[in-house]
Amino acid sequence: MAREQLRSALIAGSTIVGLSIGLGGIAAADEYVQYRDFFEPLPAMPPIPAVNSMTEARVELGRMLFFEPRISASGVISCATCHNPALGYTDRIPRAVGHDGQVGERNTPTVLNSGFFEAQFWDGRAATLEEQALGPIEAEVEMAMPLEAALERITEFAIYVEKFHAAFPGDDDPVHADNVALSLAAFQRTLNTPNSPLDLWLVGDDGAMSESQKRGMVAFVERGCLGCHAGPALTDSQFHVIQTPGSTDLGRFLVTGEEHDRHAFKTPTLRNVALTYPYFNNGEVASLDEAIVVMGQEMLGIELEGQELEDLVAFMHALTGAIPQFPVPPLP
Ligand code: HEC
Ligand code: HEC
Repeated sequence: MAREQLRSALIAGSTIVGLSIGLGGIAAADEYVQYRDFFEPLPAMPPIPAVNSMTEARVELGRMLFFEPRISASGVISCATCHNPALGYTDRIPRAVGHDGQVGERNTPTVLNSGFFEAQFWDGRAATLEEQALGPIEAEVEMAMPLEAALERITEFAIYVEKFHAAFPGDDDPVHADNVALSLAAFQRTLNTPNSPLDLWLVGDDGAMSESQKRGMVAFVERGCLGCHAGPALTDSQFHVIQTPGSTDLGRFLVTGEEHDRHAFKTPTLRNVALTYPYFNNGEVASLDEAIVVMGQEMLGIELEGQELEDLVAFMHALTGAIPQFPVPPLP
């Protein structure tokens, strides 16, 4: 084992490893170890805001509502239609198809690890999951359902009324929109994906990433990707001006009206990015290597190609974590 490590260290020809061999006579575990400081393992849970609490009852109600198509006008679209658990909590089509087959303007982002985002939506028009949750129910191109009507539909079922009472014990009349938002947000905060190869490597499992993934990680740091894709979810939750292929969307400008926000979009998480294709705000780019080439050109002014590009793609695959497992809730 030690000999194997020594051999690969010698092949890699790293000065750091060479040094430690000289000092201690034993090969250092991993010549890339200095890069651990640039990343954070994904915590099991995101920060919980004071306005919400993560009781089991609340998470359970949120899970039911997430899968509940009755809260859409047609009765057939749920949050899970577009944020499909089998597809990395997205839909794998360029732009979301909602009520009446209407195609929206934007690609569906994953809600995995969304509790770690400090802004929601491509343009950041909601700050928190609580603020975000009610938008899609009423949005004409998504679920197209007035909230009052949605609530009326679900309160026809005694089991929902019971679940709302259990989730909001201090509330005499708990079946209202704010509590729908709180429960959906609580449920979504449980959708975290720790233990990706990167996370395992960060906590000391040297074999968790391949050589190519480790080289990709180095390129990710040295080329400056980390400038925007940083922190536990590999996003700064900030907005950056970019012209992605085919996009005419004004992005953050639609929220702030500020000139400098024209065509600015939120940095998306890169966790599970190998599962969440197609890419960018309009879903026009199908493959990871093309997305990374665009990033090089638009964000860094460099051409990424060859082995380095392959390594960066490999590193993106090291960001796929353990997808949450839970029984799909039986709905009334
Ligand atoms: C018709 C498809 C569709 C449905 C149904 C839908 N979403 Fe979305 N969701 C999207 C799209 C598209 C966006 C991005 C919209 C934007 O940025 O303007 C989005 C964005 C989000 C975000 C922000 C994620 C991020 O990275 O910014 C969250 C959280 C979310 N949806 C949760 C939900 C919840 C909860 C429901 C059910 C109440 C729901 N969605 C229903 C398509 C859908
Ligand atoms: C200046 C900030 C910035 C830098 C630097 C940057 N990115 Fe991005 N990245 C973004 C933004 C913003 C988007 C979303 C753009 C859009 O959809 O309009 C994005 C999107 C992506 C996507 C597509 C994700 C998705 O779900 O659609 C990938 C993959 C990606 N970046 C990887 C990289 C890599 C690899 C590097 C380094 C070579 C890098 N990025 C450098 C800000 C940045």
